[in-house]
Amino acid sequence: MEGVTEIRRGTLQEQTFYEQVGGEETFRRLVHRFYQGVAEDPLLRPMYPEEDLGPAEERFTLFLMQYWGGPTTYSENRGHPRLRMRHVPFKVDRAAHDAWLKHMRDALDDLGLPEEHDQTMWKYLTYAAASMINTPD
Ligand code: HEM
Repeated sequence: MEGVTEIRRGTLQEQTFYEQVGGEETFRRLVHRFYQGVAEDPLLRPMYPEEDLGPAEERFTLFLMQYWGGPTTYSENRGHPRLRMRHVPFKVDRAAHDAWLKHMRDALDDLGLPEEHDQTMWKYLTYAAASMINTPD
């Protein structure tokens, strides 16, 4: 029995961030809410090449799930993320960056994660968004 307890303890300690925040459902809710904001945004909406935002929503959801330790479906479908390269066709300037982060902040607020998890996610997203800027003002 002791061994079983040990295994359980080990499993708990090794829980990924993906699992800690609630797994797939959490990421689906986050990105869905984010794209609701994008759909209404006069600066961002025209940047998205497809009329239907559904496939873009799916790609971003799968990317974040993979990044935080969930299933690796994103890379199975899309290969290495190479995010900066994939954003080259889009004019990501300060204004686009700010709009993108604003919708992400709204989406995270709606999710209502515990403070610590919220901060971990926000820190990553703000860092990643800054690194995506490819067009000076
Ligand atoms: C800073 C402002 C940003 C803007 C304006 C922006 C805009 C876009 C646009 C227009 C697309 C194409 C939509 C599609 O067809 O998938 C896209 C794709 C994507 N973006 Fe961003 N993005 C930004 C930041 C970020 C950040 C910070 C991340 C990651 C944390 C990210 C992750 C992705 C992913 C995973 C895709 C799909 C890549 C693929 O597999 O083709 N983006 N983004």
